[in-house]
Amino acid sequence: MLDDLKKIKLKALSEFDKIKNSEELENLKVKYLGRNGELTKLLKNLKDIAEEEKPKVGKVANEIKESIGSAIEKVADKFDDSSVGDIQVNNLTLPGIKTEKGSLHPNTMMQYELEQIFTAMGFKVIEGPDLESEYFNFTALNIPDNHPARDTQDTFWLDDGNLLKTHTSPMQVRAMKKYGAPLRAVFPGRCFRFEATDASHDSTFYQLEGLMIDKDISIANVIAVMKELLRAVFKRDVKVRQRPGYFPFVEPGFELDINCLICEGEGCSVCKQSGWLELLPCGLVHPNVIRAGGLDPKEYSGFAFGLGLTRLVMMKYGIDDIRLLQGGDLRFLKQF
Ligand code: PHE
Repeated sequence: MLDDLKKIKLKALSEFDKIKNSEELENLKVKYLGRNGELTKLLKNLKDIAEEEKPKVGKVANEIKESIGSAIEKVADKFDDSSVGDIQVNNLTLPGIKTEKGSLHPNTMMQYELEQIFTAMGFKVIEGPDLESEYFNFTALNIPDNHPARDTQDTFWLDDGNLLKTHTSPMQVRAMKKYGAPLRAVFPGRCFRFEATDASHDSTFYQLEGLMIDKDISIANVIAVMKELLRAVFKRDVKVRQRPGYFPFVEPGFELDINCLICEGEGCSVCKQSGWLELLPCGLVHPNVIRAGGLDPKEYSGFAFGLGLTRLVMMKYGIDDIRLLQGGDLRFLKQF
């Protein structure tokens, strides 16, 4: 018995030495250690040998098992998963590996939908940078240094004086400078505010800015475009109300509120019990902003709006906590 064990050990180790790939390794493992493997079979005979021999033979058997085990580990290291992976990646004739398919985030779906609605009305779609300069985020928008309006947008400042854009409005000026007039464009984008979160505020959210510059643009144009937009998104007439609103880059400025669709106007945590939701600040572009865009405000006028894209997603899908959107919880995301 002892001899047989030693023979198996020598044979096994020399065979493991010659292995060339992970498939051969697998075969050898089965050959020696499998249920009907050579070593396993021999060990099964252990019960038939004399009682006093058992401890000695058992000890040797275990040592052999261990040395075969460590030989396997050594070879396995050589053919670890990464090298198996390489072989598979390079072999284009192998069948593909099945992966679970993801889906578009509800924000993205809404963004695409809005882009379609606006392109149909002749608007360009342009995206701006997330990292913005103080000039485009504030100064060019008629918010000079020390203007109190800067405080209404809690800002993530960078050490070099730049910032994470707090709204999509900087693109108004960037686009006018680049494309001149007449101009119709929307600017979807991620915005950042350094503020505490609750059911309706997050430090990251999405807006879709709209800008139309031409001769003789009036508030009637904004309202017409907005109504068309809401009809297209909600596939029904949504109650809206307009209030005066102050934003330094528009004059006059408005807030367009929609009836809260989560509670149908009864009052809930999303609309802060008011039944209305601020969805669309808008107004006529301030002459200083048109000038910053390199155009003459005597010749051109325009409207701008800053649609709360994230808010719209919440209304459309009945999501009652904004934090779910960026929470990365697959159980939430898989519903869309
Ligand atoms: N940029 C403003 C904000 O984020 C919204 C706005 C855009 C207001 C365009 C008027 C016109 O608060």
